[in-house]
Amino acid sequence: MSTILEQTMLVQPRKAVLAMPEYHPPLAGRDALRLDFNENTFSPSPAVLRRLQQLTAEGLTIYPEREPVERIVAQHFGLERDQLLLTNGVDEAIHLVSCTFLEEGDEALICTPTFFMYDVSIALMTAGLKRVQSDDSLSFPFERFLAAITPKTKLIIVASPNNPTGATVSREHLLAIAAAAPQAVLMVDEAYFHFHGETTLGDVGTIPNLIVARTFSKAYGLANLRVGMLAGDARLISYIRKVSSPYNVNGVALAVLPDAVADEAYLQWYVEQVRSGRERIFAALEELGVRTWPSAANFVLMDIGPRHKELCAEMHKRGVLLRDRSADPGCEGYVRITAGVEDHVNRGIAALRESLAAIGWTPAEGRGRA
Ligand SMILES: Cc1ncc(COP(=O)(O)O)c(C=O)c1O
Repeated sequence: MSTILEQTMLVQPRKAVLAMPEYHPPLAGRDALRLDFNENTFSPSPAVLRRLQQLTAEGLTIYPEREPVERIVAQHFGLERDQLLLTNGVDEAIHLVSCTFLEEGDEALICTPTFFMYDVSIALMTAGLKRVQSDDSLSFPFERFLAAITPKTKLIIVASPNNPTGATVSREHLLAIAAAAPQAVLMVDEAYFHFHGETTLGDVGTIPNLIVARTFSKAYGLANLRVGMLAGDARLISYIRKVSSPYNVNGVALAVLPDAVADEAYLQWYVEQVRSGRERIFAALEELGVRTWPSAANFVLMDIGPRHKELCAEMHKRGVLLRDRSADPGCEGYVRITAGVEDHVNRGIAALRESLAAIGWTPAEGRGRA
């Protein structure tokens, strides 16, 4: 007679699931100033908060209706209704795109270091993930990336600005990549678009294999509601829509989204806070002799060297969370800090000064801005 444990072992997941990498962001214990996850550090628009007050008990009992909100959001971004799909964050969007377009044996292409969820979703579908590593400048390795495209390449994902580097890829280079791989989907992840300003959203519809992903988690401050979008050629989006659950976006997110996109003044205010905060973080780190990389996103990556863990621990003692990116390829000793509203940036910089002093950091250890 076999035990329950032995019987359970008879059930095995797909080989791809056993082989896929695990992503373990902290899922508890973030009760501090959150400069670790590139979220909005403050609040969504007041219009969103007002709409939340109007939600009713009955409203929560209804399956969410995505369609009318997709119409509003599509119109806001100058897209046709069938060129847009709302998703449960860009995380789900990556998953849906991988499931829709990748077969076992296909190749997919990303640069590294980049957002880890690409690895996870692609590994589920194919073992054919090719990674093109950035050099020490952490800029996008355009020539080598282009050279890595083959006839088997079916999905290419590029984040611009990239996470965790903050590096951007020009529209010209993105269009060259799309043209070099007409058999592949090029997904441009514009999660951090607002802090940069350059986009390929206007090319949706004219570039047949382009899909642009945007999130409402960052500048709009809705990370907890889990909502993002995919924009692309209507035919491609129709395939992804087939794969998506009809109720992938919750009704609370759908209720507030029209208010969030309409309040452009608030969005602009928050983006300005981040941009000036980012410059102040750069200036402080330069003065402290800490090497950084140019960033067009709402964060700055810094090189702390062997004492990266000590720095994060000292910051935590002072009530500020940073993200240690040392496990990312080519990022040993690198730590990321989010830029938020003025007061949060000030607290982050003050804690950085104290923490670097506490670990005995001297400017001589640093190598300045890359
Ligand atoms: C490049 C990039 N894409 C997507 C996401 C996830 O976005 P969402 O919250 O919409 O799932 C992140 C989150 O950090 C990110 O850095």
